[in-house]
Amino acid sequence: MNKWFFFNIALLALGTWNVINKAGEGIPTHIFFGFMGLIFILFNWTRHAVFSTIRDSSDRAKKIKYANLSKRILPFHRWIGTTALILILTHATLVIDLFGFQWQNPKIVSGLLTATVLTAVVTTGWMRRYRPSIKKRMTHLWLGISMFFLLLLHLLF
Ligand code: HEM
Ligand code: HEM
Repeated sequence: MNKWFFFNIALLALGTWNVINKAGEGIPTHIFFGFMGLIFILFNWTRHAVFSTIRDSSDRAKKIKYANLSKRILPFHRWIGTTALILILTHATLVIDLFGFQWQNPKIVSGLLTATVLTAVVTTGWMRRYRPSIKKRMTHLWLGISMFFLLLLHLLF
């Protein structure tokens, strides 16, 4: 297991904990959309954990197993990422409807920052699909890592 598997599970646990704490009579709709978005994003981000495991492992059987798994999931990657963006835009619309633009609210500011980076992750994803280059690959990856830490802030605030 690569350390990123643990980071991803920790972020999911933090999100789940927050949602449970905010659920009274069921989960409010705006929170439900945020949580679904979180799950879709983490599903795609786990691709990085899988790739790191393949790179770091010296066990050939394990490398092949993970590479095959990764290949089987690839056709869904772009649709899961694009769906995540739609879920998060819905989350943002519902939140702003409820609270308005509260620029002093760290949850709103961190959320807007994360959603901006998510938009860039999805855009570079589609760009690298049509005209792949090393630069686009690294941009997609680094935007993904930045998004992970912004998301951590969003859930901590
Ligand atoms: C990738 C982007 C985002 C993800 C994955 C996400 C995820 C979540 C999750 C799982 C929650 C519920 C748990 C908690 O309160 O900590 C939440 C709450 C919240 N989010 Fe987001 N969010 C994102 C973007 C945004 C954006 C763009 C905004 C602002 C427009 C925003 C504003 C909020 C607010 C204000 C809450 C608290 C709601 C409440 O306590 O009733 N989020 N978000
Ligand atoms: C939540 C959104 C997304 C996240 C977190 C994400 C993350 C990742 C990660 C971690 C990788 C592997 C890293 C590497 O290249 O070494 C990757 C690969 C890739 N992503 Fe995304 N991605 C997202 C959305 C998208 C979207 C919407 C597309 C649209 C086409 C896309 C296209 C690609 C392509 C073409 C690859 C290379 C495929 C491969 O050879 O395995 N991504 N992505």
